[in-house]
Amino acid sequence: MSQGIRLAFDSEGVDWAEAASIFERAPLGTREPDKFERTCRNSDLVCFAWDGDVLVGLARALSDGEVQSVIYDLCTLPEYQGRGLGTRIMEAMMEKLGTPNVVLWSVPGKEGFYARLGFKPMLTAMARMEDPEASAARGYIRL
Ligand SMILES: CC(C)(COP(=O)(O)OP(=O)(O)OC[C@H]1O[C@@H](n2cnc3c(N)ncnc32)[C@H](O)[C@@H]1OP(=O)(O)O)[C@@H](O)C(=O)NCCC(=O)NCCS
Repeated sequence: MSQGIRLAFDSEGVDWAEAASIFERAPLGTREPDKFERTCRNSDLVCFAWDGDVLVGLARALSDGEVQSVIYDLCTLPEYQGRGLGTRIMEAMMEKLGTPNVVLWSVPGKEGFYARLGFKPMLTAMARMEDPEASAARGYIRL
């Protein structure tokens, strides 16, 4: 279980290189620490999971505070996966966001994790991506 792990909804004490390393270890791609810090500071909600002074998971979201939110970058360290932490982060984020609608882009193959939390596949989602070919190769869009 993820008891004993503290969820913080601010960036207090975050080492951004350590945060970026969670993406690589999870794995969920790579993040440049300075850029990831800016994306977090520009987000409406962040969630950092701490086991003592070790950062073990994170997520962030954009929200209009009324109707729509988008959750990004959920990841937990491999040794903490399958212990309920991802679910706890998601449920805490959705409660804090408080919007009736929440969307996200699942990593291909992780849809089942979100389905357990009540998410349904979107049938008309459209995305304009920086590198459409790379996004298509990773299974996020159809060209
Ligand atoms: C996805 C992730 C955040 C989930 O966090 P977690 O702490 O492992 O999740 P939890 O322990 O809360 O929940 C896991 C549950 O979801 C289930 N689950 C996990 N992946 C699943 C999948 N692809 N399909 C169906 N169920 C899945 C597990 O079987 C487990 O069920 P159980 O509680 O009955 O044993 C974590 O595994 C992770 O960081 N993965 C790598 C990065 C990533 O893919 N992030 C998602 C970005 S969209």
